[in-house]
Amino acid sequence: MGSSRSMLFFITLAIIILHLVAPTIAQDDGTCTEKGEYCLKCSDTGTAGDEYQENLKSLLSSFSSNTQNNYDGFYNSSRGQDSNKINAIALCRGDLSQDSCQTCLNKSTDILLKNCSTHKEAIIWAEHCMVRYSHDVIFGIEQTDPFKHLPSPNYPKNPEQFEPVLTHLLGNLSDRAASTNSLKKFAAGHATVPGGELIYALAQCTPDIDKQNCSNCLKQSVTEIRTCCGKKNGGRVLKPSCNLRYENNSFYASTAGSSVDIPVSKEGMYAYYG
Ligand SMILES: *[C@@H]1O[C@H](CO)[C@@H](O)[C@H](O)[C@H]1NC(C)=O
Ligand SMILES: *[C@@H]1O[C@H](CO)[C@@H](O)[C@H](O)[C@H]1NC(C)=O
Ligand SMILES: *[C@@H]1O[C@H](CO)[C@@H](O)[C@H](O)[C@H]1NC(C)=O
Ligand SMILES: *[C@@H]1O[C@H](CO)[C@@H](O)[C@H](O)[C@H]1NC(C)=O
Ligand SMILES: *[C@@H]1O[C@H](CO)[C@@H](O)[C@H](O)[C@H]1NC(C)=O
Ligand SMILES: *[C@@H]1O[C@H](CO)[C@@H](O)[C@H](O)[C@H]1NC(C)=O
Repeated sequence: MGSSRSMLFFITLAIIILHLVAPTIAQDDGTCTEKGEYCLKCSDTGTAGDEYQENLKSLLSSFSSNTQNNYDGFYNSSRGQDSNKINAIALCRGDLSQDSCQTCLNKSTDILLKNCSTHKEAIIWAEHCMVRYSHDVIFGIEQTDPFKHLPSPNYPKNPEQFEPVLTHLLGNLSDRAASTNSLKKFAAGHATVPGGELIYALAQCTPDIDKQNCSNCLKQSVTEIRTCCGKKNGGRVLKPSCNLRYENNSFYASTAGSSVDIPVSKEGMYAYYG
């Protein structure tokens, strides 16, 4: 009796707290194609005139025709002056070749120009790359809005064992992605769930943000895995400054990832839950 009453109390308290903080939590935003090839968000802030649209077209087209000598899959630049100034960033998935990167940027910038060119701000998350632009300054600034959660429809075979392994794997990859000093803040790897199921995952930040901001962005994304993709065997947390993805199959170039060991305590239980 006593315990069920205090349980009720805590549930009520939890509901009240959730209700109080709910309005400050950003909404999952944007639309995705049915098969998840890409997700798109044209922002509502400001309508773009002809000159802005011209600048936008020239800027976005430069990404897919750009051939850097030191390819790192990251592009940033600006066009225009004053009210017609646009800043844009493009990031390819860390395991892609320059050719595959260019192909993704060409497709994605075409979709942005078709769907969002009258908007002063927009973002597209495709499977292999992300492109965003804004009238505001965006370089070097950690941005976690808008975001999109994209769960897989399928369930793991063994949910209780799956979740702690997933959490540990994503934590490991997030730490590694944030700690790299190179222009590629990217880590990929896989881990084995007892029973043999495999989880493949990656974590990536845009390299213009610093280590602390990258770590913040990815850690926050890991905590959203439950709301995003709770109990599913795959999913993506997509943000402007960082993204996470996990699947039950090897979706990245096998040379880009390695096996991550999951620590087991003496009792045979997982040592890590968060
Ligand atoms: C994408 O590539 C096609 C074919 O090369 C080209 O016509 C088009 O302008 C490119 N789009 C962008 C946005 O660069
Ligand atoms: C683009 O990024 C590079 C590397 O992070 C940086 O050196 C450069 O200043 C950036 N360009 C602009 C226009 O901010
Ligand atoms: C973007 O534009 C294309 C072609 O106009 C259209 O088929 C597609 O549905 C649009 N995508 C979204 C997410 O609105
Ligand atoms: C991944 O999950 C899907 C859906 O549950 C399943 O059909 C498929 O066999 C799994 N793939 C692997 C490699 O286990
Ligand atoms: C990014 O990191 C800097 C310190 O490096 C910090 O001052 C800033 O608040 C961080 N930005 C966000 C959005 O957390
Ligand atoms: C991630 O896992 C690898 C392989 O198990 C390990 O060597 C590495 O120290 C871990 N890194 C972090 C930051 O946890």
